[in-house]
Amino acid sequence: MSARLLKGKEVSDALVTQLSQEMAKLNFQPKLVFIRVGDDPASVAYVRGKNRLAEQIGICSLVNALPQETKQAELMELIAELNADDSVDGILVQLPLPEHLDSEPILEAIDPRKDVDGFHPMNVGRLWTGQEGLVPCTPAGLIRIMDHYQLPIEGRHVVIIGRSNLVGKPAAALFLRRHATVSLAHSRTRNLAALVKQADIIVAAVGRQALITPEMVKPAAVVLDVGISRVDGKLVGDVHPDVAEVAAHLTPMPGGTGRVTVAMLMQNTLQAAIVRRASG
Ligand code: GUN
Repeated sequence: MSARLLKGKEVSDALVTQLSQEMAKLNFQPKLVFIRVGDDPASVAYVRGKNRLAEQIGICSLVNALPQETKQAELMELIAELNADDSVDGILVQLPLPEHLDSEPILEAIDPRKDVDGFHPMNVGRLWTGQEGLVPCTPAGLIRIMDHYQLPIEGRHVVIIGRSNLVGKPAAALFLRRHATVSLAHSRTRNLAALVKQADIIVAAVGRQALITPEMVKPAAVVLDVGISRVDGKLVGDVHPDVAEVAAHLTPMPGGTGRVTVAMLMQNTLQAAIVRRASG
């Protein structure tokens, strides 16, 4: 193996240490509320992990586990209550929601100041116009990984594969903000392999096993694997294992970007709490 592994735990531990120091200076306890609908095993596991880290760093964290048959209006009502509750700093609705629920109006109903996922159109607009706001955790974590390992971004060509609102699009905005040249590729991109081969930094965020193969990777490249899919009961990323023989730096899967996402959520919760409470 030639690639240096960019370890999520190392980045997350450093961030958690920093956040714990910031927590110690506060004269209040930030409060984060999760909403989970139904019993999708992946969502149960994700919320459990986020809740655990929140408790570990001293954030008051509550999980609302709602039944699968919860109605749109009930969910909207709960969000309205949490918006109005001055003790609540962050609200996170775990996605995906069950089929019968329309996530768009639900995410839009969250007070943008409490939108610790950074999914509200107000925060999306702020991100793209370069204003301060809450930024989606997974792409923010990618920048954090780059900075932790002192890997330069400015002027580099970043090729992002996957144009989701959760990862691809906000990642493009964040790398652009750091003065990278960004290509945002997707399922209809022609000649993907040739495009990826030009990349200094590759962000794979599709959810398809072995989408990125060694032939597509320039030897000095940094490869950030965000994809996740289940193959024969095992979680795998979008990057073929042999890419480790070619790339200069690579996030492992598991043990890479996911862990940092959860730590970034804690940073967003602190930021949301400090900004909202300062503005009264
Ligand atoms: N489901 C998968 N990733 C995420 C995330 O970052 N936030 C929320 N709310 N749901 C998710």
